[in-house]
Amino acid sequence: MRLSKKNTALKILFVASEASPFVKVGGLGEVMYSLPKALREIGHDARVMIPKYSSIDSAKFPMTVVKEGLLVPKGVVGGLSENDQMICNVKKFLDPDNGHAVTYLLENEEYYEQRGSVYGYDVDPMRWALLSRGALEFVRTNNDEWRPDVIVASDWQGGLIPNYIKTVYKDDSILSKIATAFSIHNLYFQGMFDHRFVSEMDYDDGQSEIPSIGDPKMSKMNFMRRGIRYADVINTVSPNYAREITTSEYGELLDNLLQERRSHLFGILNGINYDAYNPETDSYINFKYNAKNLKERAKNKEILRQKFNLPQVNNKFIIGIVSRLSEQKGLDVLMEAIEPMLNNFDFEMVVVGQGDSKYMSFFTDLEKKYPSIKTHLSYDAILPRFVFAGADAILIPSKFEPCGLTQMEAMRYGCVPIVRKTGGLADSVEDYNPTKQTGTGFVFEKFDKFALFGTMIRVLETYKYPKFWEGIQKRAMSANFSWTNSAKEYAEIFKKAIDFNLQSKKPQ
Ligand code: GLC
Repeated sequence: MRLSKKNTALKILFVASEASPFVKVGGLGEVMYSLPKALREIGHDARVMIPKYSSIDSAKFPMTVVKEGLLVPKGVVGGLSENDQMICNVKKFLDPDNGHAVTYLLENEEYYEQRGSVYGYDVDPMRWALLSRGALEFVRTNNDEWRPDVIVASDWQGGLIPNYIKTVYKDDSILSKIATAFSIHNLYFQGMFDHRFVSEMDYDDGQSEIPSIGDPKMSKMNFMRRGIRYADVINTVSPNYAREITTSEYGELLDNLLQERRSHLFGILNGINYDAYNPETDSYINFKYNAKNLKERAKNKEILRQKFNLPQVNNKFIIGIVSRLSEQKGLDVLMEAIEPMLNNFDFEMVVVGQGDSKYMSFFTDLEKKYPSIKTHLSYDAILPRFVFAGADAILIPSKFEPCGLTQMEAMRYGCVPIVRKTGGLADSVEDYNPTKQTGTGFVFEKFDKFALFGTMIRVLETYKYPKFWEGIQKRAMSANFSWTNSAKEYAEIFKKAIDFNLQSKKPQ
């Protein structure tokens, strides 16, 4: 699609720790593929930069070198000698399967090449400071390459980008003109470093010294806080989570700062990849279907039973859980409610996911005790599709949820979401109203076992009426979660970021 005259095409660089198809740990990796793509489809030039991890296969992703020997200062401000710099290369990959989309990969032997995983090293602060500063040095020094109007940094790993631009590079003729957006996919992880100062870190005013890359005596800091403090605009991945994080309940001790910056804070709901998640074309599922022939879908329920070794009995209700097994996902409520649920209601449950040992062993024990519970407790890229296509409902009782993609993917397959009213779950699922026959799923508010138990009664009562149940399925399947709308909203906030940056440069 071309842009109309009054809409200017923007040049946007996303800098992130993960991006599909190169490397994906969670939802962020997915978004770093889909959002730039959707922005390109509405006429913007969106590119991505990630570290070149050794796990990225150069045979599968052939790259060319665009900058050899990029020098990235290790120290804080100016006056550095050669010895104070780190050497990186920047490589470029053009994706033939994705309209030749450009991805830049920052190569560094010590910090990325020798460490294949994305997260979890003691030198993480240095690794992310290096990505931030490396991206900025690349943009600043690469005369022949492209130069963005906006840089989008994501989560705490990107928090130093806005910080560097507004401090170290505030007089730089190139970088000072570039606006920054800081995207919060999860406020819980903040990147707080130097364990010796942990207690003080929460009070990091964001104005003190930036840590030097590679310096073990890092000054106290909170990466997330710096991103929020300095970015021209801040966004989260749903409007509701953007409101929630300005409260003490969800603010993770940053609510005061977020309130201060409220006029720069926006919430934009993520979309899902409609090409990848489509029950009419999904090559993995056995019986393809759409909202008009839900009878076909029922056959996938039998396939799901086979896959999980559930007894091939009548049409028992199947609940799916597809989740990272962490506290965020509300599993503590499920742990309290599950036995009363099993003792009172007739249903089966399949669980796909991996995570904290507390939850892993809980599900392992539960499976041993109850033949109606089956689990697959490791990450699987394909199995969730069988759950979406075959289970009657998907349960997501999250404690907090910046956006959540699973409910949207499941809905596309007519798998009815049962969710807690929080974050993006509240923005994407409308509670079933039996009087009006409206709603796309079941929503409960309180984070406790009674609320979940009560909702299960509503769910199973409704399931007894196939006509009403199908109505919910159909409405869920036709909900619009395409990326196009979200991409337009992102373009708007990027323009705001450019304006804010210009305003901040005007003499007072
Ligand atoms: C994080 C959040 C999740 C969100 C995803 C993508 O993983 O926990 O709610 O959907 O990022 O933005």
